[in-house]
Amino acid sequence: MSASAKLRALTPPAIAKAKGGTPIVCLTAYTTPVARLVDAHCDLVLVGDSVGMVLHGLPSTLGVTIDMMILHGKAARRGVSRALLVVDLPFGSYEEGPDQAFRNAARVMAETGCGAVKLEGGTAIAPTIAFLTLRGIPVMAHIGLTPQSVNAFGGYGVQGRGADGERIRRDAQAVAEAGAFAVVLEKVPESLAARITQDVAIPTIGIGASAACDGQILVVDDMLGAFADFRPKFVKRYAELGDAADRAIAAYAAEVRARKFPAAEHVFGDAPKEGAA
Ligand code: KIV
Repeated sequence: MSASAKLRALTPPAIAKAKGGTPIVCLTAYTTPVARLVDAHCDLVLVGDSVGMVLHGLPSTLGVTIDMMILHGKAARRGVSRALLVVDLPFGSYEEGPDQAFRNAARVMAETGCGAVKLEGGTAIAPTIAFLTLRGIPVMAHIGLTPQSVNAFGGYGVQGRGADGERIRRDAQAVAEAGAFAVVLEKVPESLAARITQDVAIPTIGIGASAACDGQILVVDDMLGAFADFRPKFVKRYAELGDAADRAIAAYAAEVRARKFPAAEHVFGDAPKEGAA
């Protein structure tokens, strides 16, 4: 399912069908220009609640609200024409039960135009996933390290090592049986990711879960080197935009202070010149 082969917008069933084929390529995006860049190369664009940490400077994803997700979902929608757009349901917007989840998921879908929502949790949240999917809301599940449960986990450590792997396997089976069209598998050992990928009928999308998964996702600012607050082991940096931006801003500041910018080519004369903006 390469970007060049795609002619029409991808749907949740199309993503589900891609299991076991060419790996499914996913990235986050929170703004129109970045969504446009990501859409050109990816199968799935996620407006993740990581937006809270990456763009809003929050210490975790717990402070992210439905209104924030809708604002960024709408922005990303304007940049996405071919990939499947998925929007995260933030902490506190779905855990009370199926009715609350449906109300908020329906609002997110109606106001952003996204094609699916993502929510965190395994066996405990499976009945909610079933309720949503039976009512026309496609759900991407998220298990393993679920950052909205950072306080319950006591940090952002690897999940499912040793005997704990059984818990994550049960989560994977539960969300697949509940009707999720794909499942994000975050920060679990490679052997567990391989086993789950083999066992479940839906695509596994790994983040810190090895190439054994059916697809991969990263936070776009992490892989571009634009978010420097911390760098998880599972992130590969494909660019150093943070360093490039720092150098550019330092050069601008130095030139303004030295009166080198603006130069003659940036200045307007009295007489209008043809073609000058
Ligand atoms: O919020 C997010 O960006 C995510 C991905 C990292 C999977 O959940």
